[in-house]
Amino acid sequence: KEMLNPVEDLKGKNVLITAGPTREWIDPVRFISNPSSGKMGYALAKSASERGANVTLISGPVSIEKPTGMSNFVKVETAEEMYNEVVKVVDSQDIVIKTAAVGDYRPKSKSDIKLKKSNSKVSLELEPNADILFNIGNNKKENQIFVGFAAETNDVIEEGKKKLIKKNLDLIVVNDVTEVGAGFQSETNIIKIIDKEKNVKEFPMDTKENLSNIIIDEIVNLLK
Ligand code: CTP
Ligand code: CA
Repeated sequence: KEMLNPVEDLKGKNVLITAGPTREWIDPVRFISNPSSGKMGYALAKSASERGANVTLISGPVSIEKPTGMSNFVKVETAEEMYNEVVKVVDSQDIVIKTAAVGDYRPKSKSDIKLKKSNSKVSLELEPNADILFNIGNNKKENQIFVGFAAETNDVIEEGKKKLIKKNLDLIVVNDVTEVGAGFQSETNIIKIIDKEKNVKEFPMDTKENLSNIIIDEIVNLLK
């Protein structure tokens, strides 16, 4: 449901959001990916736009409709494509929110033709993708606010704190994917938000729509 009178507390702010999974192609009919649905990123894009922001949404392949009100909507497949699109726009952003589940590795080579099966063991050589958030985070300008996401299975808060420092973030939103109601494809999530002072705020299970407004509230607090 649309908000009737949303508070335009992001009015005039440029907000970049990345969402969804990436695909790393093995051959023309096969790829490596992950179960990210893109729901959290799309919900954030919608909330930010309702709150007055100029939203650039860079999205991996998802089955959700493009949200209304986007200033800029770019579809990508691979981590490398996402990186290139992010780099094009990052300097003009006030806020960057990286919900995307970026593939950490890609096949060392992509076959132009479909690979045929055999009965013997095969192995696939992978090489690392560049870490988008690490690279842009460590080139962050003074007034920019960068927010990362981390889906973890163990030591959730410790892992989140490490990533916040390593990637020079202002906030990181972490969730434990082993908890019921916090999984990848879920309509709901159970999040914790960690800030630079290592404060941890825990939130009860909620819809991704409500959580997107909670996350934006935390970002707006940093703007003040
Ligand atoms: N991220 C990114 N580029 C990558 C990998 C991750 O921008 N190549 C971003 C994600 O969008 C997310 C944050 O970094 O906001 C944390 O992603 P995560 O996969 O949890 O962290 P990694 O540093 O990849 O560590 P690992 O997967 O080993 O836990
Ligand atoms: Ca990763």
